[in-house]
Amino acid sequence: MKVRSQFVCQQCGATYNKWVGQCNNCQAWNSLVEQVVEPEIGKKSAIEKGKQSGKKLEFVKLKTIVPSDKKARLLTEFPDLNVVLGGGILMGSVSLLAGQPGIGKSTILMQISAEVAKKHDVLYISGEESAGQVKLRAERLGANSERLNFASSTSGNDIAKTIESGEFDLVIVDSIQTLAMDEISSAPGTVSQVTNCGNLIIRAAKATDTAVIIVGHVTKEGTLAGPKVLEHLVDVVLNFEGDRYGGFKTVRAVKNRFGSTNEVAIFEMGETGLKEVQNPSAALLAERTNTDGSIILATLEGNRPILVEIQALATPSNFGYPKRTASGFDINRLNLLIAVIERRTKLKLSDKDIFINVVGGMKLNDSAADLAVCMAIASAVAGRKLGEEYVVFGEVGLGGEIRSAFRADQRIAEAKKLGFLHAIGPATVHDKFVIPAKDLRETLIKYVK
Ligand code: TYD
Ligand code: MG
Repeated sequence: MKVRSQFVCQQCGATYNKWVGQCNNCQAWNSLVEQVVEPEIGKKSAIEKGKQSGKKLEFVKLKTIVPSDKKARLLTEFPDLNVVLGGGILMGSVSLLAGQPGIGKSTILMQISAEVAKKHDVLYISGEESAGQVKLRAERLGANSERLNFASSTSGNDIAKTIESGEFDLVIVDSIQTLAMDEISSAPGTVSQVTNCGNLIIRAAKATDTAVIIVGHVTKEGTLAGPKVLEHLVDVVLNFEGDRYGGFKTVRAVKNRFGSTNEVAIFEMGETGLKEVQNPSAALLAERTNTDGSIILATLEGNRPILVEIQALATPSNFGYPKRTASGFDINRLNLLIAVIERRTKLKLSDKDIFINVVGGMKLNDSAADLAVCMAIASAVAGRKLGEEYVVFGEVGLGGEIRSAFRADQRIAEAKKLGFLHAIGPATVHDKFVIPAKDLRETLIKYVK
């Protein structure tokens, strides 16, 4: 029987036989998605018949349910990544690994496959690379298990059928953007293909309790190219971020139905694939020379405390409009902090170009980075260094007040571990290690101006 498809507006649910740019019903633009119509022969809709076909649900006592969390988990060779996953890859779970092209998704998945294949049956499906290419990478990574299999395919139907066979414990699909379903005419990578192929694969995985990891490429802006929708369908969404060329790369769960989303694993790409970085603070500070504009921030990556160097550079503006650039730090936050510095201290920044760099390719997402950024700017402008023995943390309010930072104890512990003697931090922290800072102006005058 021929399967038909129709176009459904994702806003209001109106259906069309042909694609149109704007929904006639709700006027939304570009909201139509192609979906397969399940054939209905001689069936009248329930509403037409005036009754519905539902039946009373079967229910069980919540107490008696065995949570799926207690099910077996497949362990990767990376302890931190296992923590990010909530204790390993859960059987029957579908995860999405999202990241920019070239970041190392295929590499890490081959490493995971190789490890899991020591005890389980694993199938690596690639729609992007030939068997030869994949073999070369596998050799380089030392993947040579008997139970590691490879298939090359771009058919969503075939892949789902293969998963349904139940022959594999773990299936890797690299990548969702290359897949197409026979019933749908649109090109691979479009929302309709991604949603429908994703749904097929998820159904197959759940039916056979197969763990599946799907690769999704993201665009430079950080959105999943095409399949943002996929994030809602899968159980776990892992974001692979960082610099494509050197530096640290992080894997964090932005969604995890079976674990916390606060954990992060930090990787470095080497000759033989990705390695977890055991002591990121030490690695980040190894090349440091203490100059003006350089401040050590005690920050957190997920649940992990990390010390990173923040560098600021200030140069006279050549044109009327001063330039502000930030790498690894939010540019809007930087502009806000510059405004606070100008208003609350006597430092004049309107005639200076200001550049902020977070060393090691780290992307800061921590409000307690404010004080370190402000001190780095002041230090760069004044040409005065902060002593080697200090780390800094604390949020800066619009009034120039220094506000508390969460998990101060962890930040302090990490700084102590790496041999620092003092922290300049919020006055709310009661620890001898911390020299309390209440006000931005006072702090800058005392230490760097
Ligand atoms: P890849 O995993 O193919 O990235 P993605 O699948 O996310 O597009 O490769 C990432 C880069 O890593 C690639 O440029 C080659 C490099 N690389 C190494 O430096 N060492 C290695 O051992 C491997 C396998 C790759
Ligand atoms: Mg790849």
